[in-house]
Amino acid sequence: MDRVAIVTGASSGIGRAIAHALGAEAISVVLAARREHLLRELASELDSQTLVVPTDMADQLQVRRLVDATVERWGRIDLVIGNAGIWHHASIEATEPSLWEEMIRVDYLANVWLTLAALPHMGSGSHIIFINSLAGFRGVPSEAPYAAAKHALAGFSSVARQELRSRGISVTSVHPGRVDTAPFESLRVPMVQQKQPPEVVAKAVLSAIHRPRPHIYVPAVRGRLYAWFGLLAPRVFDALARPFKLEGELD
Ligand SMILES: NC(=O)c1ccc[n+]([C@@H]2O[C@H](COP(=O)([O-])OP(=O)(O)OC[C@H]3O[C@@H](n4cnc5c(N)ncnc54)[C@H](OP(=O)(O)O)[C@@H]3O)[C@@H](O)[C@H]2O)c1
Repeated sequence: MDRVAIVTGASSGIGRAIAHALGAEAISVVLAARREHLLRELASELDSQTLVVPTDMADQLQVRRLVDATVERWGRIDLVIGNAGIWHHASIEATEPSLWEEMIRVDYLANVWLTLAALPHMGSGSHIIFINSLAGFRGVPSEAPYAAAKHALAGFSSVARQELRSRGISVTSVHPGRVDTAPFESLRVPMVQQKQPPEVVAKAVLSAIHRPRPHIYVPAVRGRLYAWFGLLAPRVFDALARPFKLEGELD
């Protein structure tokens, strides 16, 4: 039987590219996000079997329904791709209290709820992949709620990886740098952070599916350098973040 994947945030950007990549591998795909019309449009483009489940990932009950609908249709889950996320660019002081909570819900807690609901239906050889960010290693100015949520997700993934190992379930954290998607359209970034097409991240996800690894950086070398530099030389990183305009500039 074909493998079954849940992709959250499939209606646009990276999630949409991942759904296309999975479809091309004949993997049955459950498409989740809030904008149902975009999910239906995407479903009509895929060659593999699809199931559209409009879902607000900020709502725990809806996340559970997403898993229930998948199990009702196919009786199993082989791949969970936790990709849905929001991003916001503002200083700490200019960020509304409600946004901190929303960011934690969508970028972090939704992935925990999804994992908890999906795990009873996942067997040996299955795989959970979270689309994190380089901000999950080291945040930059104007991205505090985002970096906080992605750090929480990184912590969750690393423990889930250790706990699920004995069950034969892999957990991969994918850490892209800047990607050319709608939320980042108006963000001008420095040369060192050139935006990549979402298809590059989808290709990295496929490579993780074929050869499970704990972390994938996109791009591989620059992403790894960024992560290690932030860890090994934090004071230098902090001093250089602003002069190198790593936070980018909104148009
Ligand atoms: N673009 C980058 O530079 C970059 C870099 C590193 C990591 N990432 C990560 O990549 C992931 C995808 O982002 P993207 O760049 O592809 O942006 P995007 O095009 O805006 O995609 C975000 C997706 O998440 C969904 N989503 C947002 N809130 C949701 C909610 N409450 N419930 C369900 N779905 C929700 C959106 O669907 P609906 O609006 O239809 O619900 C959309 O499909 C995010 O986790 C992001 O943090 C992006």
